Order: sequence, then C-alpha cells, then structure tokens
Amino acid sequence: MSAVVYRAPMLNPRGADTLDAWADGGLRVRDGRIEAIGDFDAVMRVGEAHDHVEVLEGVIVPGFADVHIHWVQHPVRGAFEASLMPWLREHIWPEEMRYADEVFAAAAARRFYTDTVRAGTVMGMSYSSAHADAVRIADDARVGDWMTGDVVMEHGAPEALTRASVHEAIELDRRASGLGAERYVVTPRFALNCTPRLMADLGAYARVGGFHVQTHLSESAAEIREVLREFPEADDYTDIYDRAGLLGPRTVLGHCVHLSAREWAVLRARGCWIAHCPSSNEALDSGRMDLEAVRRHGIPYALASDVGAGPSHSLLHVMQRFLEIHRAADVAVSGTEALYRATLAGAECMGRSVVAGNLDASKRADFVLLPSPGGPLDAEGWIGEWTRGAMHELENRPLATWIAGERHDPATVSVNPPPP
Ligand code: GUN
Ligand code: ZN
Repeated sequence: MSAVVYRAPMLNPRGADTLDAWADGGLRVRDGRIEAIGDFDAVMRVGEAHDHVEVLEGVIVPGFADVHIHWVQHPVRGAFEASLMPWLREHIWPEEMRYADEVFAAAAARRFYTDTVRAGTVMGMSYSSAHADAVRIADDARVGDWMTGDVVMEHGAPEALTRASVHEAIELDRRASGLGAERYVVTPRFALNCTPRLMADLGAYARVGGFHVQTHLSESAAEIREVLREFPEADDYTDIYDRAGLLGPRTVLGHCVHLSAREWAVLRARGCWIAHCPSSNEALDSGRMDLEAVRRHGIPYALASDVGAGPSHSLLHVMQRFLEIHRAADVAVSGTEALYRATLAGAECMGRSVVAGNLDASKRADFVLLPSPGGPLDAEGWIGEWTRGAMHELENRPLATWIAGERHDPATVSVNPPPP
C-alpha cells in the first residue's frame, strides 16, 4: 500500500520537559504505522513519488491516553455534589448496578467510545462495573487501545455488587470476557471492599498472569480514616496493598493525594505508577496531590480523568486543571509536561510506549488534529491555548482523531451497530 504524508505543524512529546516541534511537519503513515516524521521537505525527500500528500488545517499531536476512567460512570460524570464516601455509596453504587442489564450496558459502551474518540482519546485503562459481562460488552464496543477490569468487591457495598469467592470469580470473568493481559486489568476496587486474603489472591493472580493491577489509594481524608479503622495492623494505607503483594511496576494507583514519606518511598521501591486525577480531586474536594513529593521521589505518573468523579473525559480539561491547580499552589508545571503526561506517559504506564504514545517512527499512527492557534511555532503558548475555556466547550470541541492510521471524524466514529 502506498503511504500518506500528512502536512501540518506537529508537536511530539518526548518527556516531561522535552518536545520536538515542526512548524511545517510531515508525518508519513503506511499500514496504520508511522514511517517517518520531521520537516515536510525532509520526509518527502526520502519517500516515494506516489506517496499521497494530505494537507491538514490544524496542529498534529499524539492521541490522548486516559489511565484511570470509570466507563460505567460516564453517563453521570460530574452529576452529584458530595465528598468521596457519600458520593460512592449514595450515587455511584446504585448507578453501577444498572450494568447488570446488557442492553443498557451496550448502549452506554457505544456512547463512551464515541465521546472519548471525539475528544481525542485513543487509549487508556478503565474500571468496569462488578459484572463480568459488562467487561466483554465494553471490549466488543472498544474503539482504541484499552484495558478494562470488573471492580472486585467482596463486602462493604450493596449485595448486588459483591461476590463471595472472588478468586474463582475473577478467573470466570476473564474466561467470560475472553481477554488476556493486553486487555484485562485486575481491579480490586479499594481496600474498603476487600479482605487481606482477597487482595493477596488478586496480587498472586496478577503476578502469575502478567496482568496490570489498578486500584484507588489515599484519595480523601475520610476514606483513609475508615481504611485505618478497618486494617489496624497496617502501618498505613499503602502498607495494606504492599502486604497483599499488589504493588509492582504494572500497578497503577489512582489519586495518592495524602501519602506519608514512608508511603512515597514504598511506591518508589515497588516501581508503581500513579494515575493523577486533578479534575476529580478538585470536584470531590479531595485535596491536591503533592506533586513536589512525587517529583522528589521520582515516581512515574500519568494524567487521568477519573470520570465520573472527574466531570469530563476531555484530557484537554484534565490538562487545564493540572496546570491551574498546581500553579495555584506555586508549583511549576509546564504545558509541555501536561501534554507528555496526557500522552506518552500514559502509554508508558500501560506498558505500550514501544508501540504508542507519541509520533516516533514505527509507532501506531494515533494522533489528533487540534485547532491551529496561528502565528509562529510556540509549543507552550499553543498548549495553553488548547486548554483554555469552559469544560463543556473543551469536551464538545469535536476533534478529528486517527487511530492506527484510520480517521475518525467526530460525526462518524465507528462503533458497532446497536443490538437488534
Ligand atoms: N474509590 C473507590 N471507588 C471509587 C470510584 O468509583 N471513584 C473514585 N473517585 N474513587 C473511588
Ligand atoms: Zn476512580
């Protein structure tokens, strides 16, 4: 097949403070992969005469990765005013019970992927409900490179969401959904829904099967008080997961808002990732993650929306809240870092950075066209421009998104047809 060369300005994040930029860029794509990137003229010189050139109005950046989102909370994102524990118990668990209904779940999944692709998200890690079938339904409707897992809950929640023998249940779930480690993530919801025995089983299960693990850690002060009452033998919240063998380089911990020096050191020693959810923490008034400590301890992190506590699945909105919240606390954060944390860092967190996350040659051609701010190339200024504006405006700004080289226009996102 011949290649297509896209011609537009391009930004290619390479790290927290490194980014390549081309004012007149060329991106050669063949068979869904990036063959070359650079100055348009240079990319054309080493190409073939019959390469097709497409000039795009806008700026090309990598597609976004969202490493912590509850797809089953998408219809009620930002809908309830409450702090974490009442929000969960009074609003979210009743909402998640609806996913026992496969028709409801399938319609919600189609809507979820339509909306995330329209907002430029091409990959991520999601939490499903407690129902094994909902994991399969989400994967059937999947658009992009996603992992998902049913939240495992043994107690402390309505009976309809809890299971007695979880170790057996999770094996059943995986068989039911037919997913392997590339698509399935082991998901103990959080310490308050799990016994030490259950968490140890899940930790062993993940280690043997090479699965990612995702859970919530130290999100709100009230949650932490409840956790420490329930686990009096633990040094702290992190210690509960550590004793269970749940912490490792494939573990992604949502929030980490209130951690002690000992806990940061444990996360560092185990190689865990943090899913940093600034818009969610703001919405539930959970607090600000101590970014200075994260940096001091060298703990890797990626940005995430945490919809539905996060009020929007738009990573542009998450980047905006990231920049504003930390700057308001006099912590320096750059647009370059925000873009890296919303793209390549997410792919690193998911173990996919060899094949995805930015526009390097040989990677999957996942990219988004953002509106051109005009004027000379100014990466920081442009990122600032893209993340300015009201949440609904950012979320509803329809973006053309390419996944594995295939263009998804806002109106024509290819989801499976509705069930008969
Ligand atoms: N802690 C346990 N479950 C949840 C959830 O669904 N959302 C958030 N933000 N925190 C949690
Ligand atoms: Zn969450």
